[in-house]
Amino acid sequence: MTRRAKSTYNDRPLPLTERALTSPRAEVVSEADIRRLVDAFYDTVRDDDLIGPIFERRVANWSLHLPKMYDFWSTVVLHSARYSGRPIEVHRTIAGLSPAHFERWLSLWEATVARVIDRPARDAFVQAARRMASSMSTRLT
Ligand code: HEM
Repeated sequence: MTRRAKSTYNDRPLPLTERALTSPRAEVVSEADIRRLVDAFYDTVRDDDLIGPIFERRVANWSLHLPKMYDFWSTVVLHSARYSGRPIEVHRTIAGLSPAHFERWLSLWEATVARVIDRPARDAFVQAARRMASSMSTRLT
């Protein structure tokens, strides 16, 4: 009786807000997705004529930068806590950042997410990036 009541409770569809809080993102996002996304994103960034040169000047070793960014996005989207840097402080040291740089960064990010990530997981990457781009742009430019 207790078991049946419990399983009936568990089978009940959750309201949307409760579902968002209880369903782990890991069901729709994997670490492999994050690596593919980050790799594809920085390929397009490096080719971009507005923001590519800023990265080429600053990033001496891409095989260190990319794993750092896997950890960053895994921390943002999967709460893995693997990244523990200070992005605001780091970007403060990049001379001449303007709102146009953040807009370009975000539009490349959104296009890459749409290309590389399956639909159910896209929102997690896009919403977090929009929030961060807007707050970083306000604080840093
Ligand atoms: C929402 C927007 C952005 C996010 C979430 C983001 C995130 C990050 C993070 C987490 C790092 C690693 C920081 C560390 O060393 O711990 C980083 C590094 C870097 N970011 Fe961004 N970034 C954003 C926008 C931009 C923009 C617009 C530019 C320039 C156009 C930029 C240029 C760089 C560069 C050059 C580095 C490497 C700095 C270095 O290691 O010397 N970022 N970013």
